[in-house]
Amino acid sequence: MNKQNVLITGGAGFIGSHVVRLFVNTYPEYHIYNLDALTYAGNLENLIDVQDQPNYTFIKGDITNEDFINELFQTHKFDKVIHLAAESHVDRSIEDPLAFVKTNVIGTMVLLNAFKACYHSNFENKLFYHISTDEVYGTLGETGLFTETTAYDPNSPYSASKASADHFVRAYGETYGLPYIISNCSNNYGAYQFPEKLIPLFINNILNKKELPVYGDGNYTRDWLFVEDHAKAIDVVFHKGVLGETYNIGGFNEWKNIDLVSLLCKQMDDKLGNKEGTSAQLITYVKDRPGHDLRYAIDASKIKKELGWTPTVTFEEGLDKTIDWYLNNKDWLNNVTTGAYQDYYKKQYK
Ligand code: NAD
Ligand code: DAU
Repeated sequence: MNKQNVLITGGAGFIGSHVVRLFVNTYPEYHIYNLDALTYAGNLENLIDVQDQPNYTFIKGDITNEDFINELFQTHKFDKVIHLAAESHVDRSIEDPLAFVKTNVIGTMVLLNAFKACYHSNFENKLFYHISTDEVYGTLGETGLFTETTAYDPNSPYSASKASADHFVRAYGETYGLPYIISNCSNNYGAYQFPEKLIPLFINNILNKKELPVYGDGNYTRDWLFVEDHAKAIDVVFHKGVLGETYNIGGFNEWKNIDLVSLLCKQMDDKLGNKEGTSAQLITYVKDRPGHDLRYAIDASKIKKELGWTPTVTFEEGLDKTIDWYLNNKDWLNNVTTGAYQDYYKKQYK
């Protein structure tokens, strides 16, 4: 039997590297192609443990490069695509929205077109699986949950670009019969996350005894999911999901930012042997993020009921593992926080 060719885009990033690892190790019957432009967020150090596996190939390339992407699809005839490549950080989207339209919207369209051109409407056993975010639904008040039928209402350039990409994926399904699935997930955390996002940024700052910049009053709420549970959900949706469907993925795990930061400070103090309260002294309330969404919370009952997926790692366990990973991988952290990172940090937190 021929191996299935599976293309994973953005596989050198945070979530993508966990998905690549899971698929390479679990499915020797697939050949996994990891296509990544290696932007500031992509890092091949995330995949050292799988880089020599016979069912794995890394391809450096940009999803917005039409000729290159078309040729790649014609060469490898990917049976299935898991599309994660994106500009993913909300604060950067506020500084440079166009970069988000280019990668997240145009890049997704280039992939859709290449996939369509490869199969001329003969899509049997093919799949375009698009990875999206709960931010497309906008913001919740103090109550309620996002379901798969919640109307899109994005508020940041990042979420508007992801919403637009989701619309194009659905439109290609309706118009050309392209076989797709979309999943929309809540905030991920875990190993290999670039230290521009809340949890790794604050771990790195505590290690360097730098201020912990909490936006606004800190009463914003996010629903946190351990990244390995997200990778498992992607595996389940990829194998059992129904074409044309959307699945919301979340941790059933809401935290106000300030409560999460306080827990993180406490766990860091325990692990570093600090006097209680040492890290919390670094908490500094700073200017709010423009257009800051108050609350995200996912109703993940559909994927639970229909596909049998639930998160397996509690937040306390996941945070503990995450902190340990960063403490044991200081070289990784140092390598990604030199040069351009320092310039970004100064500009963002000036
Ligand atoms: P990330 O920023 O860590 O990784 C993105 C990867 O995409 C990087 O490896 C980068 O090099 C690559 N990339 C960027 N532009 C590219 C281009 N033009 N061509 C090819 N590769 C390119 O992001 P992440 O946090 O791992 O998120 C992955 C996906 O999951 C994104 O689509 C994001 O919207 C979605 N998502 C993220 C979260 C989260 O909490 N991080 C939650 C829900 C959904
Ligand atoms: O909800 C899913 C989304 O989660 C993903 O689609 C995005 O790719 C991912 O970046 C994440 O977006 P957020 O904006 O929620 O994540 P971030 O880690 O940037 O921020 C989490 C919360 O913490 C948010 O309320 C803003 C706040 N924050 C963040 C940073 C970086 C701070 O208070 N201070 C900070 O320095």
